[in-house]
Amino acid sequence: MSRTVYVNGDYLPESDAKISIFDRGFLMADGVYEVTSVLGGKLIDFDGHAVRLERSLTELDMAMPMSRDELLEIHRELVRLNEIDEGMIYLQITRGAPADRDFAFPDPEATAQTVVLFTQNKPGLADNPVAKQGIKVISIDDIRWGRRDIKTVQLLYPSMGKMMAKKAGADDAWMVEDGFVTEGTSNNAYIVKGNKIITRELSKDILHGITRAAVLRFAREAQMEVEERNFTIDEVKQADEAFITSASTFVMPVVAIDGAAIGDGVPGAKALRLREIYLEESRKAAV
Ligand code: PDD
Repeated sequence: MSRTVYVNGDYLPESDAKISIFDRGFLMADGVYEVTSVLGGKLIDFDGHAVRLERSLTELDMAMPMSRDELLEIHRELVRLNEIDEGMIYLQITRGAPADRDFAFPDPEATAQTVVLFTQNKPGLADNPVAKQGIKVISIDDIRWGRRDIKTVQLLYPSMGKMMAKKAGADDAWMVEDGFVTEGTSNNAYIVKGNKIITRELSKDILHGITRAAVLRFAREAQMEVEERNFTIDEVKQADEAFITSASTFVMPVVAIDGAAIGDGVPGAKALRLREIYLEESRKAAV
């Protein structure tokens, strides 16, 4: 079924949506994005994604092309037009399409930003059977650039990481820098030791996950201890449990790393409990 997508003010069938070959998103990966999940036809953590989007744009000297309310309206309209019950909304804003390729940024007065949104219909997203068996990860070097806190569309290395994982018979890769895990290719990484949820502290080294913020809050409310610190692959192997978080996976147990079982090699109780709490609470707060 053809989707209705949003491009620069218009709602169009996906086959009619066009972007210039000079778009800096295409030529330079000069753009930022957000992925917001939809459950029960409502947006999960919309404000968190909007705040991070504004921050990503500011860090790259780009303006927010519309108000937060207008952005919310576009998200809702796409959910309505595409009859999404469970799925995701992808949003991308680039520095637009100047008249020619040039490393220097174009004058924002003369070159309008490109704003694109589309839906991804994923029935069964919340009740994902994968959560019951957990995923396997491998470890790879983190060779990304130094501003991973900005959600840019430069996703080549994360895509390569996914392919390395697939080739190794795993589902995803955890990236390691200076001996410590940074994050997954498209998610934040956690281990559990006793009552402690351990995840890397926020910095320019990782994306400040919107799901991460909510899950850490719920963990504290559920009397789990939260420790934001670096951890090694050896610690992952010694952990009781591990999991990832993101807007598209919520809380997803990780049961093996580099071929070694984590804990009992099955989804951990804390990860499953946090998934349950996250889904329940975020549904309640959805807009
Ligand atoms: N990825 N770290 C990275 C590198 C990510 O790409 C993502 C999200 C996260 C988790 O952030 P959040 O909880 O706000 O989704 C962490 C999205 C889902 C994607 O690229 O599809």
